[in-house]
Amino acid sequence: MAIALERNAPAVTGGSFGPQWDLGDEEIEQLIDVIRSGKLSRLGGTKVVQLEQDFAARVGARYAQAVTSGTASVHTAVGVLDPNPGDEIITTGVTDFGTVIGLLYQNAVPVFADVDPRTGNLDPASVESLITERTRGIVLVHLYGNPCPLDAFVALAKKHNLALVEDCAQAQGAEYGGRSVGTWGDLGCFSFGGKQMTTGDGGMVVTHRDDLAERLKWFPDKGNPRRPHYQHYYLSPNYRMTELQGAVGVAQLRKVDEVVRRKRAAAAYLNEVISQQEGLRVTPVQPGAKHAYWVYGFQIDPSVIRVPVADFARALQTEGVPVNAPYLEKPIYQYPALAEPHLYGTSRFPWTLPGAAEVDFAHLHLPGVEEFLATTAVLTMNPSFTEAHVEHFGDAIQRVAAHYRGQR
Ligand SMILES: Cc1ncc(COP(=O)(O)O)c(C=O)c1O
Repeated sequence: MAIALERNAPAVTGGSFGPQWDLGDEEIEQLIDVIRSGKLSRLGGTKVVQLEQDFAARVGARYAQAVTSGTASVHTAVGVLDPNPGDEIITTGVTDFGTVIGLLYQNAVPVFADVDPRTGNLDPASVESLITERTRGIVLVHLYGNPCPLDAFVALAKKHNLALVEDCAQAQGAEYGGRSVGTWGDLGCFSFGGKQMTTGDGGMVVTHRDDLAERLKWFPDKGNPRRPHYQHYYLSPNYRMTELQGAVGVAQLRKVDEVVRRKRAAAAYLNEVISQQEGLRVTPVQPGAKHAYWVYGFQIDPSVIRVPVADFARALQTEGVPVNAPYLEKPIYQYPALAEPHLYGTSRFPWTLPGAAEVDFAHLHLPGVEEFLATTAVLTMNPSFTEAHVEHFGDAIQRVAAHYRGQR
């Protein structure tokens, strides 16, 4: 069967389908309030506080602290835990580098566990096999919005007395066991960059732990509670969200349910199509969990579709489907910053700390990570997709899969 790739048709991207975010009068009205108030900083303003309260209420968390990005949210979570230099934090190589930037700034040592090759989410057994007396915590990622097996991770953290941080940057709106992601671990981190909602850049950290609330409040504000005296209690950055971001966030947050609803409807249709295609696989979701489909991942079976997943994605792009693959050219531990490593000048810090295990990330092979990246295609989800768009994607996926099956 002829496919558009063979006619050199132009490729589409996620941006070809209209705006990723519904930004309109609601955001403008909130912003006008801020400009008229003359208070652009959260110190003395009301919008960031309102966003924090609204966010905490929506996810069901006791405390929520706004910050300037998803990267800042994970840094804040790790900063709240206050590891000692050289403490190990187990995490995933299938994520944005923002997952590890903060733990590196806190001089913790990242340890990369393997993932489930079907979901790209951390495998609890692999995490457990890497726990040592130096392990301080786990930072897991709900990849693409698909919840990790949280029961297993909560039990693991409890058994080994470890802190559990949920990086929910991609997973706003996802649920596990009837509760929002981010409320299962000790701390949950969210991003308002290019995610389910936007404040340009921005993020949020939530916790239910009273004992962490104070440090969570002051870590993103230079460790300075200002009361009773202006003074700095520990080293920490300024990650204060501005009122301009907060204002947009207040309006955007009210739209997230609809964004997630639309993405779930599109995903349900695509799941139906893909499950009927020999050579393609739907990404499994944990029992009782609800995927938020920030993006839609699905897999090729290389014994049936015998081309690299990048070629498969390219064929879909020329059919008008905004699909990319691989998700990452390489796992994040093979980026130069970690593989060389190039973190603190020419030193190998934090691996120069006494007792730190020697690492060679350039040669680290994790079979689940490699299989996942080699087989997974990622469809950019846009809440402005119409039914006609999604039906077209389904048709194109069937056509392209049939084409490559025919080449067996
Ligand atoms: C899983 C994950 N963690 C952290 C981040 C960092 O978020 P930000 O880009 O808002 O700093 C991202 C961003 O893509 C992400 O996907």
